Amino acid sequence: MLAIRNAAGVARELWAERRFAEMARRGAGLLYATRVTIGLRRDLGVPCPVPSAKIPIEVRPLRDADLPHLFPEDRSGLSRKERLELDTRRFHLRAGIPTCWVALDGRTGTPCYMQWLMGASHNRLIQETFPPRWFPELAPDEALLENAYTPAAYRGQGIMSCAMALIAERAAGIGAARVITFVENANVPSLRGCAKAGFSPHLARVERRALLDTIRLRRFEPYDAARHAHP
Ligand SMILES: CC(C)(COP(=O)(O)OP(=O)(O)OC[C@H]1O[C@@H](n2cnc3c(N)ncnc32)[C@H](O)[C@@H]1OP(=O)(O)O)[C@@H](O)C(=O)NCCC(=O)NCCS
Repeated sequence: MLAIRNAAGVARELWAERRFAEMARRGAGLLYATRVTIGLRRDLGVPCPVPSAKIPIEVRPLRDADLPHLFPEDRSGLSRKERLELDTRRFHLRAGIPTCWVALDGRTGTPCYMQWLMGASHNRLIQETFPPRWFPELAPDEALLENAYTPAAYRGQGIMSCAMALIAERAAGIGAARVITFVENANVPSLRGCAKAGFSPHLARVERRALLDTIRLRRFEPYDAARHAHP
């Protein structure tokens, strides 16, 4: 049902913008599509300089007072895609899996980034919250860093690269020696941000969807640039 509602929303948008070729491509994708998400890893034992952002930032766990900045009440100015991005983070927040970290704009104290750092002690909650085979079961010395989000007004200032590197380092505090994260292979800004924060590809999650998402098959494969990098 959600797939049909989303597809209808996208179709309306593309029709209004006269993007007919993309409409046809997306229509075909409802019948059959493959989606590749890259698993990246950072070994905390390997030193990695923290890249600097264009504004001063610091990171700390999320507080209630940060929520109105990260999840604005008035969403009328946001695109459909942006609303969807925020809904995904809201869902993660409601699942109550610790810990959501934020970066603050050092000049004003305004939250300008969020991302969840999760440890192996939350494996059960992670597996119950997300779809089957969305994330691998974490090893005792592994942490998962997910759902990065920079509000649009703060993008392109190196905040993700810097904040992600700083938050990854906090994984040592929950007993992790390695941190993993997942990014869709077409999400160039996020892949670049991860690379600057010291992460490199090691795994791919390959998802095959068919017949309006009624069939979804997922599996993990060792990363192979020739097959998994976005064409
Ligand atoms: C992905 C996201 C978190 C990046 O945040 P950001 O703070 O703007 O990231 P940075 O400024 O550190 O930029 C990261 C890299 O992406 C590049 N980049 C930014 N926007 C880009 C774009 N539209 N196209 C290509 N590259 C882009 C930057 O130039 C930078 O690379 P560089 O330093 O080598 O030049 C942000 O775009 C976002 O919240 N997007 C929506 C949610 C999302 O996709 N989250 C990631 C889920 S895995």
